[in-house]
Amino acid sequence: MPGGVGGVGPETDCPYPDSVLSRLGYTVVGVSGRPEEGDYVKRLGATEVLDRSLFSSPGKPLGRERWAGAVDVVGSHTLANVCATTSYRGVVAACGLAGGMDFPSSVAPFILRGVTLAGVDSVMCPRPDRLLAWQRLGLDLDLAKLGLITNEIGLDEAIPVASQLLEGKVRGRVVVDVNR
Ligand SMILES: NC(=O)c1ccc[n+]([C@@H]2O[C@H](COP(=O)([O-])OP(=O)(O)OC[C@H]3O[C@@H](n4cnc5c(N)ncnc54)[C@H](OP(=O)(O)O)[C@@H]3O)[C@@H](O)[C@H]2O)c1
Repeated sequence: MPGGVGGVGPETDCPYPDSVLSRLGYTVVGVSGRPEEGDYVKRLGATEVLDRSLFSSPGKPLGRERWAGAVDVVGSHTLANVCATTSYRGVVAACGLAGGMDFPSSVAPFILRGVTLAGVDSVMCPRPDRLLAWQRLGLDLDLAKLGLITNEIGLDEAIPVASQLLEGKVRGRVVVDVNR
């Protein structure tokens, strides 16, 4: 269960977990607040796309086990609800705070289901780990899907596209060609 239309891969400079996880044989469920982008998320590898509102309210400490693993870029109630519905011994990677920095959870998923909450940090991550991650991307990422994720613009488009980014209207990653 990875994030939605944003750029982090999964979100976070690892391009899209949807593509990688589906290629590894997992059934991937995407989450997005933009129903019009459902087909896009499916083209990246998700078989189903759920509305993000299903995860954003306070939930129970434990719910039905649904996910073998998850990549979360949202934080707050979304991260808490994902942990509460992750299967026995599943792993949740927390790498963002698009929905908030808080984590209103309980210890129940961790002590009753052995769930692991793994932190992802792309800034201080040691070089050997980075090399391993990029090697795995070389093996596990369908490079044909990079084109779906990437939009290239010229330098003079950077300011208007930045406004669209802040309005949540940009999907994937934008590459600025400073020579254009
Ligand atoms: N751990 C690290 O090393 C690392 C590195 C880079 C970035 N990050 C963090 O990762 C997060 C995502 O970065 P990004 O570059 O992918 O940003 P992004 O392109 O803006 O994508 C974030 C996505 O999160 C969803 N979202 C936005 N606001 C939300 C809300 N209130 N509730 C639920 N979902 C929401 C949106 O998906 P939909 O439109 O599909 O709903 C949006 O596309 C950020 O918090 C960023 O700071 C972490």
